[in-house]
Amino acid sequence: MPDAAAPGSTTTAASSGMAAVDGHWGSLAATPPMGWNSWNQVHEAVTEDVVIAAAEAMVSRGLVDAGYEYVVVDDCWQSAERTPEGLLLPNPGRFPRGMKAVADHVHSLGLKFGMYSAPGERTCAGRLGSSGHEERDASMFAEWGVDFLKYDWCGAGPLTPESVRPAFERMRDPLVATGRDIVYSVSEYGVARPWEWGRGTAHLWRTTFDIWPHWGSVFALLNQQWAACAGSGPGGWADPDMLQVGNGTLTPEENRSHMALWALLPAPLFAGNDLAAASDDVVRLLTHPGLIAVNQDPLGRRARLVAVTPEVMVWARELAGGDLVLGVLNHTEGPVEAAVPLVQAGVVGRCTAVDVFSGRELGEPGVGYKAVLERHDTAVLRFNRVPSRP
Ligand code: GAL
Repeated sequence: MPDAAAPGSTTTAASSGMAAVDGHWGSLAATPPMGWNSWNQVHEAVTEDVVIAAAEAMVSRGLVDAGYEYVVVDDCWQSAERTPEGLLLPNPGRFPRGMKAVADHVHSLGLKFGMYSAPGERTCAGRLGSSGHEERDASMFAEWGVDFLKYDWCGAGPLTPESVRPAFERMRDPLVATGRDIVYSVSEYGVARPWEWGRGTAHLWRTTFDIWPHWGSVFALLNQQWAACAGSGPGGWADPDMLQVGNGTLTPEENRSHMALWALLPAPLFAGNDLAAASDDVVRLLTHPGLIAVNQDPLGRRARLVAVTPEVMVWARELAGGDLVLGVLNHTEGPVEAAVPLVQAGVVGRCTAVDVFSGRELGEPGVGYKAVLERHDTAVLRFNRVPSRP
């Protein structure tokens, strides 16, 4: 927290709007934020026990060492009514010690704490929103020690850029004015072209409707990202929704593709599974050093969809230092042995490659490389120092 700004002080012109993204505010999300969020795991059934168990598992299972840091309480933490003074308190049955105690506990583990609200009267699950109480709620979040706020459009009027952006700014400005470093994540499902105004309004902006734990959903959201990621980069990130790795009907190959492609896009990485109960394979995937390095690459370039063949879809992304990384997804319903269109993907000149999942050196691929992939699996290929096209 910067020393200069006291909680409750007013927003200055320089601390709001586009000016902010290049300054201290923008530096809060220099790379895509990583953490855990309660929604995909328990939906409405969030409690203190669930949150603390996730935070402890984040430490004990190595997610913190891999870079995950935020523990975010999503919708349904709220009490049924505001107090006569207008305060929004937690549901006492679910958070009996209050939110500050939960935040303190999360902080004591060396992690950051996040919460959820909405610009409407009601949240998406029908709980109380922040409409008309933005300043009070922002101050209260800061007093509780909140480091991240997910602000989710529901029941707040028509979804147009003209209505959505000011509503999100009505919470952004008092958050900035608290003087606390609070990463701000907004969601309107990508309806009102957030790629045009997300940067400067928030650190994260959702580009899609909700993700569900099956391949049809993951693949559909991925297919919307080739256009929706415009504007994404250091300081502000397009958000294709949180991870469902380890949930629902996703097969090991589908989990791998989901994680690899979200890392590559690059998406904010918020696990949404039960981290204490997750298999070792799922934890290894969530913490895969090669994928996290790609996701957190300081250049923060976004991936481009460079080729779609009947067998594979290829996403490509340049990394700091000149490496090029490809995600090669088998989008068919069976195994494939597919030629990777290297030249189309930008792999020209001499280079060596590594298969990020197996760690296998692929040598100099020349112009030909065949990916052998099970149904819905993805190969991640990292090419060393590819010279740029003449
Ligand atoms: C949805 C949102 C989900 C979750 C839920 C809570 O609108 O996309 O991620 O936050 O609301 O009610």
